[in-house]
Amino acid sequence: SCDIPQELIENLRAANKIAILTGAGMSAESGIPTFRDALTGLWSQYNPEDLATPQAFEHHPRLVWEWYSSRRSLVRQVSPNQGHQALAAMERVVPTVTVITQNVDGLHQKAGSSRVLELHGNIHRVKCSQEGTIVGTWEETGTLPPRCPHCQALLRPDAVWFGEPLPQEPLLEAAEAVAACDVFFSIGTSGQVYPAASFVHFARRSHAEVVIMNTDEKAQDFPDFHRLNGPAGQILPELLQTVWPQM
Ligand code: NAD
Ligand code: APR
Repeated sequence: SCDIPQELIENLRAANKIAILTGAGMSAESGIPTFRDALTGLWSQYNPEDLATPQAFEHHPRLVWEWYSSRRSLVRQVSPNQGHQALAAMERVVPTVTVITQNVDGLHQKAGSSRVLELHGNIHRVKCSQEGTIVGTWEETGTLPPRCPHCQALLRPDAVWFGEPLPQEPLLEAAEAVAACDVFFSIGTSGQVYPAASFVHFARRSHAEVVIMNTDEKAQDFPDFHRLNGPAGQILPELLQTVWPQM
């Protein structure tokens, strides 16, 4: 099992507010490849940075639409892993738990987390590329991408693409949660994309304990952060068991 410093155990037991930033590594054990791991199968010759951009959608709308459709159907087949479930269970012993996720798979909500801020949108939602309005149902047959029933513009996934601004409301709520938390976890993210990558530094400035949880011991490697190196799906259940044995 992972060795958790006694000081961190005490701080977690005393914590009123915990904020957790998650990235693709959180869903890796559910079977969803991370962005910077080699993409497997059909899409291995493509790089997310080349597909998840407004330019890619403008020039190859069908390709981008089909890439998201394949990821959407993959996500529909997988389940939250024990890491997602442990974060949902944490709400039973900590007054305020805020999950701030860069993931678009919706697995935190599926696991039962009640406060999830989606910084990069959600691929299960589709919106009009002109009006931005969410469209509930659409045909996946015929010419793709489908068109908006209201203005005939192309529909697109409600995911934030490289270079696009993040949705204001979740970003502002995330900033508040980071500034107010007693302990801040950064789990399964390479910390290469802003503004999410700056949250660990905001948390530190606000005198929170910062805990990095990652299989890559070099990820977000800063001196005064705690590190629990290893797969989140294994470490999070162990952490809950150790810190809150009464659960
Ligand atoms: P970027 O560097 O272009 O910045 C993204 C946004 O964050 C920009 O609007 C920028 O103004 C803002 N930003 C940048 N640095 C900031 C800072 N220090 N403080 C506050 N705001 C800052 O990011 P990117 O790498 O081009 O990616 C854009 C977004 O699209 C990212 O959030 C990325 O994760 C997301 N994305 C999503 C998917 C997906 O499938 N969901 C795929 C690729 C990228
Ligand atoms: N447990 C914990 N960490 C893991 C696990 C695991 N089981 N498996 C992989 N990791 C780590 C990897 O070591 C890596 O540091 O998860 C991280 C995944 O990093 P990325 O693939 O870069 O994903 P992420 O950080 O979420 O990317 C940020 O960039 O492409 C855009 O919008 C996209 O939201 C994404 C953003």
